[in-house]
Formats: sequence, structure tokens, C-alpha cells
Amino acid sequence: MLRGAVRISGAKNHALAAMCAALLTDEDVILTNVPEISDTETLGDLLRSLGAVVERQPGGRMRLNAAGVNVFEAPTELITENRASFQIMGPLLARHGYAASAPPGGDVIGQRPIDVHLSGFEAMGAIVSRQNERFVAETPRNGRLKGARVFMDYPSVSGTQNVMMAAVAATGHTTIVNAATEPEVQELAHMLNAMGAMISGIGSQMIEVTGVNSLRGATARIMPDRIEAGTFAIAAAMTGGQVEIQDAPVPVLDALINKLRLAGARIEAGEGCLLVAGGNDLRAVSFQALPYPGLATDLHAPMAALLTQASGVSIIHERVFDNRMLYVGELRKMGAEIVSTGSSAIVSGPTRLHGAHVRALDVRAGASVLLAALVAQGPTVIDDVYHLDRGYERLDEKLRALGAGIERA
Ligand code: EPU
Repeated sequence: MLRGAVRISGAKNHALAAMCAALLTDEDVILTNVPEISDTETLGDLLRSLGAVVERQPGGRMRLNAAGVNVFEAPTELITENRASFQIMGPLLARHGYAASAPPGGDVIGQRPIDVHLSGFEAMGAIVSRQNERFVAETPRNGRLKGARVFMDYPSVSGTQNVMMAAVAATGHTTIVNAATEPEVQELAHMLNAMGAMISGIGSQMIEVTGVNSLRGATARIMPDRIEAGTFAIAAAMTGGQVEIQDAPVPVLDALINKLRLAGARIEAGEGCLLVAGGNDLRAVSFQALPYPGLATDLHAPMAALLTQASGVSIIHERVFDNRMLYVGELRKMGAEIVSTGSSAIVSGPTRLHGAHVRALDVRAGASVLLAALVAQGPTVIDDVYHLDRGYERLDEKLRALGAGIERA
């Protein structure tokens, strides 16, 4: 049972995009509330390798300055560390007329193509080619990108961010049709506007961008991480505990709050604060993992852990990624009654889980087994926790402060 209060850190997927946005100006960009997770460290190393200054300052502050950027190719060993790294392409291409990178890395949660990013650049006049293992994008005669109507075949989150960052420094007007509406995309757009960009339609599926000649520095606060907040809410609900989740981005958690209430959790939502208390009798609920404002795919695996403790049969459909089911085998090792077919899972509960030796197979699959371990009988050993460190700041410490018996070996 978890009890107490936890403060949510800055959002990984907002911080990573905001760090790439610093490439759009020669002036200082100051980010606050930047989470100390390995993904922000790796991206910092990547930006430094291009010639940018990336300085971590106390209290979650980060200063970035891209005036000295003179390398336009991402080193492969850094780009393959995480998916967001590919978002250096839009800003580099727009400002310098050239950018090259290997395909990005990240979790093995599906095919994760980048066609949406590349066709967006092409629509704005870039010539994109594949040279050995790298994608190269360049503007004709190193000129500027030209505003265009860009249709996204899928409302990709990082694709929208990448194309939007390219469009702000292009000439003329760009319309991004079928844009992603995720809060991290919206926050990036607001930050770009603070840097002098002209973006409207923020939060809609149709983003309008009027290109500007140059962008200036700005200060931006990284929004709290909705996935971390959601993970703690699920943990509180499934352990029958009571947790005050401070600095929670409540307005963007509707889908999760709704499902947790249907499952029997008691939730009081205040401004920037969620009070979550687990019900004694959790009930099965079915859900689909969807683009925002649907229930986030990043909360699919943690929710599945909760549903092992709910009575009845829950059906989960994953509608964003084609390989989000890695956690299923690990939960089964702990005694869960869960089967998956394709991108769906059926969970029967409640089951008495038992401790086991399991692996964190990706960041959210890792969160799923960790939550299951909180209610399992006996100790659980989780290998490959570096995946958790990619996306959750001091997760072990935060859980320990709420009363969980957890140590890092
Ligand atoms: N897709 C395409 N073509 C593309 C790009 C994506 O078909 O060019 C498809 C993908 O195959 C996938 C779907 O679109 O099926 C969603 O991918 P998207 O591009 O939206 O995801 P992403 O930008 O790679 C971000 C987050 C993920 C989060 C997803 C969905 C970052 C760095 N990552 O990924 O976060 O799950 O959006 O919300 O912003 C995580 O934090 O653990 C994580 C994986």
C-alpha cells in the first residue's frame, strides 16, 4: 500500500523536443523543470557533439546555446539511443539547409518509421536521400525551406514536432494537416512562439505556421510528465493506497482519471494535484490506447498491471504501436492471467501475483512489472532497469518515500 505525497518531474517528451528547439536560434534557451533522466543526458551529449552548449544548472535548469553549431550530422551511436534525437533534423535543415542522421533508436515498441517526418521535409522543398545507413536532407543550393501544405499520413507526435520546427524557419506559410495534438506538441508550439515563431491552431489537428527570418532565445518551463503522474495514480489505485500526486498535469489526464474511476479508484482532482485512493474491490475495465486525448499508449502497460488486480475480464486494444505487448510475458511470469493476440490483450483478475525474476523490456513495460511487483507476494528482481531510468526520474526513491520496499542493486 502506497501512502504519502509525490511530486511529478518534468515531462520527458516535452523536454527532449524543447532541447532540439534550441537549435533554431543563436541565443540562449533556458529550460526549467528538466527531468534528470538518461534520455535528456543522451540528447545533451548529441547536441554538444554538434557544437551546441548544453549546461545543466542546479534545480532542473538547463542552458542551451546553439551559436557554435558547425556539425550537421548526428553521430550514429548517439542518435540510436533514443527516438527524440531525430528531432534535430527539422531545426538543422531549416537553419543550415542540411541535416543527416541514422534512423533513430528508442524502445522496440513497433516499427516506428519516420516517413511522416521525411515527407514533411520534402513537401517543404527538401531533397531527402538515403546514403548508406543515414538519411540526408538538404535544401536546393542550401537555400531555405519553403512553406507548404503538409499532410501527415499518421498524426505522429515527433513527426509533427519535427515538421513544425522546420516550418517556423521556412519562408512563407505552412499548414500541417492531421497534426498530432498531444500536450507535448502544444507546449513545444507555445515555446516556439515565445522564441518569435508564428504558430496558430495549437492543439488542433490543423497547425498553421508562418515562417520567420530568425528566432530568439526564450525561457520555457517543461510541463509535468503526464505519464509519470499516470503511473503513480495507477500505483496508488492498485495497491489500495492513498497518494497525493503534486504538480500533476490534471487537465491532460482525463482519459486515465475516467478509467481509474470506472475501475473503482477514488480520485479527487484539484489544480495541479490529484488525490488517488485505491478501492478495495477494483473492477475490470476495457480500454483502447489511442492518440491524445485518448488513453495514452504509454499508460497501456502500467494499466494492464492494475487490471490483474481487478475482478472480471478486461480487454485492451493497442491502437498506436504494433509491438506494445512485451510486458505480457513478464507479467505472466508473476502469475498474471493475461494473453495477447496481435495488438490486444485479455486480462482476467484478480490474481495473486508472486515475485519473480523479470526484465524491464522497455520503459513502460518496465513500469508495468514494477507496479506488479508492488502487490506481488515475495520479492521481485527486475533486470535492465536502465530502461526505467530513461523515462522516470528517481522512480525507486519516489516509490520508497511512499512506503514501497524497493532497492537498486
Ligand atoms: N508513425 C508512422 N510514420 C512516422 C512516424 C510514426 O507511421 O513517420 C507511426 C508509428 O509507427 C506508430 C505511430 O505512428 O505506430 C505513433 O508514433 P509517433 O511518431 O506518434 O510516436 P513517437 O513520436 O515516436 C512519441 C513519444 C512516445 C509516445 C508516442 C505516442 C517521444 C520522444 N516519444 O513517440 O513516448 O509513446 O509519441 O504518444 O516523444 C515513451 O515515452 O515511452 C514513448 C515511447
